Amino acid sequence: MGKRVVVIGSQWGDEGKGKITDYLAEKAEVVVRSQGGNNAGHTIKFNNRKFALHLIPSGIFNPNIINIMANGMVIDPKALLSELDMLKKEGINDYKLYISNRAHLVMPYHIALDELYEEIKQDSAVGTTKKGIGPAYMDKVARIGIRVSDLLNEESFKKSLELSLNFANSILKSYNKLIFNFNEIFTQYKSIGNILRPYITDTSVLLNKLIDENKNILFEGAQGSMLCLDHGTYPYVTSSSPTAASVPLNSGINPFSITDVVGVTKAYTTRVGAGVFPTEFEDDISKKIREVGNEYGTTTKRPRRIGWLDMVVLKHVKRINGLNHLAMTLLDVLTGIEHLKICVSYNLDGKEIDYIPADYNEYQRCKPNYITLPGWKEDITHTTNINDLPENCKLYLNTIEKILMTKVTILSVGPDRTQTVTLKNIF
Ligand code: IMP
Ligand code: MG
Repeated sequence: MGKRVVVIGSQWGDEGKGKITDYLAEKAEVVVRSQGGNNAGHTIKFNNRKFALHLIPSGIFNPNIINIMANGMVIDPKALLSELDMLKKEGINDYKLYISNRAHLVMPYHIALDELYEEIKQDSAVGTTKKGIGPAYMDKVARIGIRVSDLLNEESFKKSLELSLNFANSILKSYNKLIFNFNEIFTQYKSIGNILRPYITDTSVLLNKLIDENKNILFEGAQGSMLCLDHGTYPYVTSSSPTAASVPLNSGINPFSITDVVGVTKAYTTRVGAGVFPTEFEDDISKKIREVGNEYGTTTKRPRRIGWLDMVVLKHVKRINGLNHLAMTLLDVLTGIEHLKICVSYNLDGKEIDYIPADYNEYQRCKPNYITLPGWKEDITHTTNINDLPENCKLYLNTIEKILMTKVTILSVGPDRTQTVTLKNIF
């Protein structure tokens, strides 16, 4: 029987999903991206080479894997072209890629609107990646979006571009921003459409066929559950739902078809962009974590904010995703830290709570309650067997497993494919 495994980020993104997906992809036959766009940045390292992917699924380096960009994504055609160019330059020519005809497009004016909305929000700016993600989803919801299928038909493209561009230009004009020219965009994107044409198809039909054929399918999450539009730290979230629940909707499969959900979590926590982050701290230890863990954004190069592991967050994320596996990354980064803290609950105005308050101000008032565990000094970057880990390292893992009641199935002790400890085979 084929399995349909969802890999999601259990924190605020950048948990190392790229590495875990790439690792699991060895046994997968299909890799699917189903939400978000090039706000994502997935770093993959193998054979001493390093690749950053933003739109294209992580299975692209394996010529046998079918890669699908599904309907829930918002795709910037220009960004996609430059990613395809990057692959070409790197000598990666043998791949299988399919793009949903129902996915929406990110247009250049969406990027201008993303910048404008951030500017208008001033102190309340979200700290978006400025890739036009939010405004593209706004057009989708307002039913003025442009879909990939429109690119293939001149009449449809003309009509949908007119509608979407007029709205955008009227907003940009009212804030004295540069407006965009219809003809320029029309001509340019029509030709991009022709380049992309061979990849475009009904990916829901394709996926369902692959499910019927019992293929092992991997759904590669982008961002993290705490950035979910519904269940994250609204309004400091992204504009899609990076949860397992969104996968069926965003890829056109039935909800019963998911067999496994892998939550990827760092051994600590990071966040880029603005927004509440209870376990955040700034001292020599956080600086060390940032440097050793190379905690700088893949997409925006911004230094990431650093915090201790937060079990309230992980419990929340387990609740909404139904995690049955935990994949822990960057455990090696904690090596050499004398005392490791884990947040087990919050203190909200004198009361202990273990859930995430919906009210943003309430969440901001939450102070973490920590337990402290002893750290380890031994190098673990070459460990391939769980039994070889230092006792304190095992204690750290066991404590997390006990609190979350979920087993660590995959452990990453370094960026390379080979630096992975498998505790149970998922496929
Ligand atoms: P947007 O998705 O560009 O609209 O940004 C909204 C928020 O999500 C900002 O805080 C971003 O930093 C964050 N974000 C978006 N994509 C990612 C990602 O792939 N990793 C980490 N944070 C992200
Ligand atoms: Mg990332």
